[in-house]
Amino acid sequence: MIKTPITQLIINWFHFYGRKYLPWKKNQNIYYIWISEIMLQQTQVNTVIPFYKKFITRFPSMKSLYQASLDEILHYWSGLGYYTRAKNIYRTIQIIFKNKKGIFPENFFEIIQLPGIGKTTAGAILSFSRNFSFSILDSNVKRILVRYYYLINANSSKKFETILWNIINIITPFHNTKQFNQSIMDIASLICTPKYPKCIICPLNLYCLQYKKNHQKDVYLLLKK
Ligand code: ADE
Repeated sequence: MIKTPITQLIINWFHFYGRKYLPWKKNQNIYYIWISEIMLQQTQVNTVIPFYKKFITRFPSMKSLYQASLDEILHYWSGLGYYTRAKNIYRTIQIIFKNKKGIFPENFFEIIQLPGIGKTTAGAILSFSRNFSFSILDSNVKRILVRYYYLINANSSKKFETILWNIINIITPFHNTKQFNQSIMDIASLICTPKYPKCIICPLNLYCLQYKKNHQKDVYLLLKK
C-alpha cells in the first residue's frame, strides 16, 4: 500500500458516517458475511436487509442451511431476484459439508473456487469477517476510481479492469481494510451515485479530478454499467 490521501479520507469518513450498524455486521461470523455478500451482489443494502434477516432467522447456522432443500432456500430468496445466487448458495453449502468438513474456507484461493464467488466477493468475505487485507472492485468502487482519477480512457475491457485492480490494490490499506472496504462502498452508494453525485458533501472532493474538472465530462459514463 502507498500512502495517498484517498485512503485516509475514506477511513476517516467511515468513523463518522459509515454504515456500521448493518445486521450482518453484528459479529464477524463468516457464514453470515458470506450470505450477506451474495445477497448484496446486484442488490442494494436497503432491499437486502429484510431478506437477510428472514434468511438468517430460518437458517441460523451452516448446518441448518445444509439440511434445507434447494426449494426451501429458493422460497426464502423469493422476491430478491437473480435466483442463480440462491442455487449457488445451495451448491456451496453442499461443497462445504462434503469436501471441507463443514467449515467455511478462509483461504482466498479456495473461496474463489466456490460457486458465484469472484475476487470481489471473496475479498469482501475475508476483509469483513477476518480483516484480512483484500481489495474489492465492484461497479460502485470502479465509479469512484474513474471519477477521482479522471480516467478519460475508461472502458469495459479486461485491460482496463486490470488497471483498476492495480489502483485499488495500491490504495487499500493493510490495516483497517474492513473499514476501508465498507466505507468506499458506502461512499459510492450514498454520495458518489451514478446520477447526481453529492460532490459538495463528498470526503474526496478536495482531490477528486472529476470534481475539479467541474463535471464537464463524466468519465464514469464510459464504463458499461
Ligand atoms: N455491496 C456489496 N457488499 C456490500 C456491503 N458490505 N455493503 C454495502 N454494499 C455492498
